[in-house]
Amino acid sequence: MAQLEVTDFAQAVIERMGECKDARFKQVMSALVKHAHAFMREVDLTPEEWMAGIQFLTETGKKCDEKRQEFILLSDTLGISMLVVALDQARGARALADRPGERPTEATVQGPFFWPGAPKKELGADIGEGFGEPTLYHGRVTDTFGKAVADCVLDVWSGDEGGLYDMQKGHEMSLRAQFRTDKEGNYRFWSIKPTYYPVPGDGPVGRMLDKMGRHLNRPGHMHMMLEAPGHQKLVTHIFVKDSPYLDSDAVFGVRNSLVVDFPKHPPGKAPDGRTMDKPFYTAKYDFRLVPKAG
Ligand code: BEZ
Ligand code: FE
Repeated sequence: MAQLEVTDFAQAVIERMGECKDARFKQVMSALVKHAHAFMREVDLTPEEWMAGIQFLTETGKKCDEKRQEFILLSDTLGISMLVVALDQARGARALADRPGERPTEATVQGPFFWPGAPKKELGADIGEGFGEPTLYHGRVTDTFGKAVADCVLDVWSGDEGGLYDMQKGHEMSLRAQFRTDKEGNYRFWSIKPTYYPVPGDGPVGRMLDKMGRHLNRPGHMHMMLEAPGHQKLVTHIFVKDSPYLDSDAVFGVRNSLVVDFPKHPPGKAPDGRTMDKPFYTAKYDFRLVPKAG
């Protein structure tokens, strides 16, 4: 019997999938085996290092529960989540190549702090609850042809003035809500100017980042998820232009088109007519959604 050598094992595994009925699964698994074996050969991995890797993945799994997803954090901090988002957008752009219209708003990572079922609020409501620096978020949602998207559900969430999300503090929702755009596609709400904050660092991924000599921080951002009938769902953020860490986001999520000015205003009348007795910020951003084909 011919014996398998270092460079043969990957091909042998791939050939064992001859009976596999799912062509896409076979393609993905074949590439995974090919690249995983090439990686091991490239670094000449030792048995101790392989055991350390298995131990790390085991700890990562043990750290997961309903509130904590350490595997997603691993994917985020290795740039894989953002690569998947970017591949998806590139695939969408190829599908739209022969249709006129503007480019859609760029997507970014969802992160682990989305909590379905946030309270539904009227346009203009203040969800800042006295935390941090008040900020009026406003703009318009259109499709890539400039047509208003009415009744678009806008789920928004952020951390508090110290960068902590409600989920990290307890069981009460805060600094999150759902709004619906009006007939012209307009949205507006008050919240806070988000600050930079660290991703959870008290688990195996935090230890990995420390050993890599990396920091844990994400630049200040407001999460937004937009869903409207007949349009592709968009998961994205608005990033604060003067925030630290824009050029070294721990999860590689920054897109230049999502970085927004947050001008500061003295106390007085805000653009939505509200009278503010302290300084406030505004953040204007227009979203473009992709209409579903057909
Ligand atoms: C966030 O932006 O909420 C986030 C994203 C990825 C990992 C951790 C947090
Ligand atoms: Fe976040």
